[in-house]
Amino acid sequence: MAREKEKAKDVAQSNPGCFITLEGSEGAGKSTNLDAVCAVLDAHGIDFYQTREPGGTPMSEAIRGLMLQSWDEPVTGLTELLLMFAARQQHVTSQIRPRLASGQWVVCDRFTDASYAYQGAARGLPEEYLNTLETWVHNDLQPDLTLYLDLDPLLGAQRIANREKDRMENEQWVFFQAVREGYLARAKRFDRITTVDASQPLEVVGRQVAAAVEKFLHRRGVA
Ligand code: TMP
Repeated sequence: MAREKEKAKDVAQSNPGCFITLEGSEGAGKSTNLDAVCAVLDAHGIDFYQTREPGGTPMSEAIRGLMLQSWDEPVTGLTELLLMFAARQQHVTSQIRPRLASGQWVVCDRFTDASYAYQGAARGLPEEYLNTLETWVHNDLQPDLTLYLDLDPLLGAQRIANREKDRMENEQWVFFQAVREGYLARAKRFDRITTVDASQPLEVVGRQVAAAVEKFLHRRGVA
């Protein structure tokens, strides 16, 4: 029994799970497209865990609440950045790393690319702050595949016009334009990021997201 357990552990360690993240700005249709990603993994019988950032553990979900609520005091970009990486530290350590190490796949709604886009590009924090926190918190761990849903912020704002907005969603157009530019710059730099035009009808976006996941599975020899 002990030997079988040991063998299962060896297999898992030599086959760590894949880490897939989904990014996009407000109104880009992240929730629907997360379903599209999960449907492809399900269809291939892949054991995966779905989670989100900020969040994914009780403490990180509490930090999410602090991040998104409105305050009667200015919230600095650096405060946001530190909150995001504190939440991420808990999440990576208690959920993401152990699951990947056991061979389970992880699908995460946003990860560190969001910090580069929102706190780096849009709040204007120096990239070296982000690089340092990234190294401290997850060092060698990077997503294997990131799907970025790209959308003109004006269109995004129209899509969420009737929704009750949190502190971040209440930001102005220039902020979201900078977020978009931040994401596009990262997509240019990293091959793991696939950009999908989210201004297309939802079914078309969903099909393209599913096709990108299929392509990734094929490259990994899973499909
Ligand atoms: P969402 O769950 O609707 O995507 O909301 C999360 C919000 O938090 C969204 O406005 C983006 C923001 N965010 C950051 O500013 N930095 C980060 O690192 C992450 C993960 C999210």
